[in-house]
Amino acid sequence: MAFGDYQFEIYLQGLAGVLPSLPMTYTELEAKAAAALSPSVWSYVAGGAGDERTQRANVAAFDKWGLIPRMFVGAAERDLSVEMFGLRLPAPVFMAPIGVIGICAQDGHGDLASARAAAATGVPMMVSTLTADPLEDVAAEFGDTPGFFQLYTPKDRELAASLVQRAQGAGYRAIVVTLDTWVPGWRPRDLATSNFPQLRGHCLANYFSDPVFRASLAQPPEENPQAAILSWVQTFGNPLTWADLPWLRSLTDLPLIVKGICHPDDVRRARDGGVDGVYCSTHGGRQANGGLPALDCLPDVVAAADGMPVLFDSGVRTGADIIKALALGATAVGIGRPYAYGLALGGTAGIVHVLRSLLAEADLIMAVDGYPSRVDLTPETLRRVT
Ligand SMILES: Cc1cc2nc3c(=O)[nH]c(=O)nc-3n(C[C@H](O)[C@H](O)[C@H](O)COP(=O)(O)O)c2cc1C
Repeated sequence: MAFGDYQFEIYLQGLAGVLPSLPMTYTELEAKAAAALSPSVWSYVAGGAGDERTQRANVAAFDKWGLIPRMFVGAAERDLSVEMFGLRLPAPVFMAPIGVIGICAQDGHGDLASARAAAATGVPMMVSTLTADPLEDVAAEFGDTPGFFQLYTPKDRELAASLVQRAQGAGYRAIVVTLDTWVPGWRPRDLATSNFPQLRGHCLANYFSDPVFRASLAQPPEENPQAAILSWVQTFGNPLTWADLPWLRSLTDLPLIVKGICHPDDVRRARDGGVDGVYCSTHGGRQANGGLPALDCLPDVVAAADGMPVLFDSGVRTGADIIKALALGATAVGIGRPYAYGLALGGTAGIVHVLRSLLAEADLIMAVDGYPSRVDLTPETLRRVT
């Protein structure tokens, strides 16, 4: 079945008098999620750094590009599949790591719900270090869909090694090290309400369940959560330098991907250091304000990667955005806030709806505009919108 066939499912149900219960546009999705989530979770997820200019620019950057329609192509079948890190995926899309996805679900188990959505759709989930359920429990819900583990590298190297080993043991297929978040960015929305979920003990399951972390505590987290949270604060963010890359590389034989890479020099140096892929992202504008939109960084990152896989996120809201990121050279595109909002509204089914809608739109654009395969989407197929 083609991804675009989702529209026929929806129209056919309409003939039987059933209209979609979940939003069909991002604007409505966002508005309904704002009403469904608690004010603190909503502001944490929706907010960003500074006056959120980078966050808005990430989204607006897609408006500057347009795909040129080609006719007489007969793109009756489209192939969106992609191979990366030895895995064949049905579509070049994945769920970006969202550290509070656990508490975006009404039942507080959003990591499990997201993993079930990965199982249902074949869209991989990149699981954050900051989960409400331990990474092993999340992996148990993946079904046949591969999963990736995103590491926030703690200062304690033994703990870092333990997290990576646990991920490897649980069957994760790649380790993604996020480099832009060893310290939280300046987030006025959260500062105004002193809102930092982890400090309140949320989404620390991977630490509290870790043998190395537990051994470092005088009392187990169940008996003294405050001390455990303080210990987490002390170890959370390791300001890594290039000198740490050989050690990171030595932690695993799994594919190693570095997230937050936007400069071509950093791409080359990371590749020389033995990484298997880079992840171009501005963290959805949550970390540093006043920067370039991630999409504007993508072409130079792709050129410097010289064939190495380039993952991309920040600002992807529609299937059209996915197409443009692919045409600019992304190997796979990360969906962030939209799936968190789908989860808030409809649990696993809400995420499945969001992912299927994004893929349907992308697939139908390829059908209509005459690009039968992902590899037909190249920078030459785009023009600047003037
Ligand atoms: C609420 C929230 C939590 C996030 N937590 C993490 C995280 O734990 N690890 C990480 O690497 N990125 C994290 N990110 C960044 C996402 O992986 C991704 O880069 C970002 O959401 C892309 O921007 P967009 O959602 O606006 O498209 C988070 C993003 C949001 C919105």
